[in-house]
Amino acid sequence: MRIAILGTGSVGAALGARWAQAGNAVTFGSRQPLSEKVLEVVELCGPTARALAHAEAVADAEAILLAIPWQAARQTLGELGDLGGRPLIDCINPLLSDLSGIELGHSTSAAEQIASWAPSARVVKAFNTASVKVMLDPRFGEQRATMFYCGDDSAAKAVVQQLIADVGFDPVDAGSLTSARYLEPLAMLYIHLAFRQKWGSNCAFKIMKR
Ligand SMILES: NC(=O)c1ccc[n+]([C@@H]2O[C@H](COP(=O)([O-])OP(=O)(O)OC[C@H]3O[C@@H](n4cnc5c(N)ncnc54)[C@H](OP(=O)(O)O)[C@@H]3O)[C@@H](O)[C@H]2O)c1
Repeated sequence: MRIAILGTGSVGAALGARWAQAGNAVTFGSRQPLSEKVLEVVELCGPTARALAHAEAVADAEAILLAIPWQAARQTLGELGDLGGRPLIDCINPLLSDLSGIELGHSTSAAEQIASWAPSARVVKAFNTASVKVMLDPRFGEQRATMFYCGDDSAAKAVVQQLIADVGFDPVDAGSLTSARYLEPLAMLYIHLAFRQKWGSNCAFKIMKR
């Protein structure tokens, strides 16, 4: 699959590397696609990877990952133009700058805001409830870490389910996009455990069923 990843930070680089290893073609969208930092990220994703400006990166993508800070989401999406109903994966946690909490919730979510700013895309929330360390290797012994996803379009969710499996997670459908109201606070719990409770970032959520 041709995937555009907007943002060349730790999440973009980790998921780009994993998706490339699984045989996908990755194009990064960056504010500075020719910078040394971005070229290093591209190199880690193998010979089919490349970096372009945001709008060029999404041009022929079959799925798009938004891996930029929450504060930059609205403006960046506004510059992309019509996304033609393609899956837009939102991994963003709307964190307060001191990591003490999230900026919105209960009656809306970052994912729903993003869907309103990108009405031509099919937004799926995913990859917001695990650390980069876990994204790079979601296996815990015999088990795979859970990755929840949610969205309103079943075809877009099927694409994202496959991309979650490509990374090595166990994908779990959490329902419609409004479930992002639960997944974003769940990420806050993760951050609380990892940093305040000092678990570190080598831990992950696993849901069980019987
Ligand atoms: N880090 C985690 O463990 C983790 C886990 C789950 C979810 N998330 C979420 O994933 C998103 C990315 O996190 P990250 O840790 O990868 O962040 P990061 O390392 O700070 O990277 C974000 C990237 O976004 C781009 N960017 C920065 N400011 C921008 C702006 N004003 N406008 C447009 N693009 C901008 C930059 O790429 P260019 O310089 O190439 O443009 C930057 O490398 C965040 O929203 C975060 O909440 C993070």
